[in-house]
Amino acid sequence: MTSRVDGPPKVTGQAKYGADHNFPGMVYGYVVVSTIANGEIQAMDVTAAKSAPGVIGVYSPFDPLDLRTAHLPMFGETWVPLQDKEVVYYGQPIGFVVAETFEQARDAAMLVDVSYHRRPALTSLQDGLASAEDAPPARDGAPATLSVLAPGVESIEDVLAASPTVVEATYTTATQNHAAMEPHSAVAVWDVDGLTIYSGNQGAHLQAMELADALDMDQSAVHSVNPYVGGAFGGKARTSAPAFLAAAAAKALNRPVKAVLSREQVFTATATRAATVQKITLGAAEDGTLLAVRHDSWCSTPMDRSFVEPTSHGTSREWYATQNLAITQKIVPLNIPRTTFMRAPGEAPGSFALESAMDELAVALNMDPIELRIRNNSTAPPGKDLMWSSKHLDECYRIGAARFGWANRSPRGHMDGDWLVGLGMAGAMFPAIRFPASIGVTLRDDDTAVVATSGADPGTGLLTVLSLVGAESLDIAPEQVTPRLGDSALPPGGMSGGSSGTASAGSAIMVAATQAIDDLLAVASAPGAPFDGLDVSYADGRVLAAGRSMTFGELLKAVHRPSISATGSAAPGEEMTKHSFSSFGVQFCEVRVHKWTRETRVSRMLGVFDAGRIINTKAARSQIMGGMIWGVSAALHEGLEIEANGRLANGDFAGYLLPVNADIPDVDVYFVEYPDTLHNALGAKGIGEIGTVGMAAAVANAVYNATGIRVRHIPIVIEDLLP
Ligand code: MOS
Repeated sequence: MTSRVDGPPKVTGQAKYGADHNFPGMVYGYVVVSTIANGEIQAMDVTAAKSAPGVIGVYSPFDPLDLRTAHLPMFGETWVPLQDKEVVYYGQPIGFVVAETFEQARDAAMLVDVSYHRRPALTSLQDGLASAEDAPPARDGAPATLSVLAPGVESIEDVLAASPTVVEATYTTATQNHAAMEPHSAVAVWDVDGLTIYSGNQGAHLQAMELADALDMDQSAVHSVNPYVGGAFGGKARTSAPAFLAAAAAKALNRPVKAVLSREQVFTATATRAATVQKITLGAAEDGTLLAVRHDSWCSTPMDRSFVEPTSHGTSREWYATQNLAITQKIVPLNIPRTTFMRAPGEAPGSFALESAMDELAVALNMDPIELRIRNNSTAPPGKDLMWSSKHLDECYRIGAARFGWANRSPRGHMDGDWLVGLGMAGAMFPAIRFPASIGVTLRDDDTAVVATSGADPGTGLLTVLSLVGAESLDIAPEQVTPRLGDSALPPGGMSGGSSGTASAGSAIMVAATQAIDDLLAVASAPGAPFDGLDVSYADGRVLAAGRSMTFGELLKAVHRPSISATGSAAPGEEMTKHSFSSFGVQFCEVRVHKWTRETRVSRMLGVFDAGRIINTKAARSQIMGGMIWGVSAALHEGLEIEANGRLANGDFAGYLLPVNADIPDVDVYFVEYPDTLHNALGAKGIGEIGTVGMAAAVANAVYNATGIRVRHIPIVIEDLLP
């Protein structure tokens, strides 16, 4: 059991997050946000704000900062504040007030008087369905609407019409805020070399690229630093409004600038998970074999149509063996805060729909829901001949059922005093993704090593993975390794996103360590060196030849070199075209619904996962547990309520329900460990996101088992369960 290397600095308050950085002469920026959801800013009267105590700068679309729209490869355009007078959602950043103190900036921001030319706002997904548009192609290039049909089949409707059992239902999921503990913030400092920005982010070099683009400068002149990130979940993949504003204002004012969003501003001025509507139709044979799967999806999207929550593409496209599959994805542009990646974007809300529908099908067939899923296990995604590189989902079902006591489940739940008790389960999948990554390995003459990359650890455990995989690759103890992350000056690592960090960075560490050892051996056997001319080898942190050995530190000292450094890179290659790759799992949940109050309590949870090799069992369990808790939260707590005028009715921590300890029982997490070396040399697949996939459906299915009430939307509230 390895504890996180960043645990002690975090729990003792020594870890410095972005906004913890302070500099002489630093001033404070406060963001001004819109109070309408659609319209044009006609005027901003900043006279009072400008003459308020301590104010040194007031910026707006009428008096903008020197910024321009930025782009990121793969992600596209980044929204950069104050670029025009258009307001497209309530709570949109429209101004920036800088003052000597935080309080002065905040107070002055309240004095900015904005007049708008208002337009009617469209804020409800239901109301917007009529004006839905086809989504752009999915991230893998697949068209938004696609079907796979058996030979001779003309349309999915024909198969559904001929299916002995059909279930059809529409499911909806709420929009959610990432609610990371650390609000989006930045401290920007300029010097002769350019900009240094301290701002929590999911990939330091990506932030440097985006800022360089927005500030029209060379990327090498932007130094992005984020050694600690207080949660991200996708919400810090893109550079935040405070980072753009602080960077540009610090340049304009020639003073370091700190900007931190208030919690209420985090709810609107960053980005959220889209709300979804999903219609699923399943056709099955009497033995449960899926004959047809149809999954039509709609999601909310901001007015710039910049993000799609790909629910059908993220689930039904791949999950079950079926000869006939038809999926669509539509987007509904609304006057709502921007949407973006959130832990398992697509898979999380998609799995609520698909795995609820599978439960409904099991009920219709009078079949055990696990048996139904095993019957439809796939060896490859439908219509693709690329087999899964490694899949042990059946074992997950078996182990999970035994561990959870599934055999004792009655199809109608049971009573325990005043509580209706039910068990539910659902499947989980998340694609195994890898990105190119580079790692620097330095061997030092004190017998320690540094393993460094620019990627981020937003709580995922990546920093500890660097030390563990570094130690393994260098054949030394983890305590001898100093891991470094979160600095764009380090070799560019993959971003902490797509559950890809360990696979991407881990593969690169192995390459870099091999190179560093080769370089060390060359130095060891060079003319005049301790192993001059000998056939040297390396093991256990030592150089060996002719019956003698020295630690690498001793050897470096002997040749008067303080260190030896190598950089290694790894990227997904041709093997990625030969298989399909995914992590798999199964979620179990026991709920108790009170007979009279109808409150729902989750009393037991188990997740069993096939996610390749697990590098750090303790951190992996935590990561999965966090995801499962988020699934409970999605099922029973979280959901943004958007008023007709676009204002969030519950856009703060007073109104936005999140689970607390009292809501969550002990969480049981189990891994079947099959290293997937077809995916990468390390054998690890992703665990960052799959933990949340399926859990909301497992809760809803358990609620059905307990009460006989099928709730097809999340979050499930007391009113849904009135008898
Ligand atoms: Mo995560 S939603 O892949 O940043």
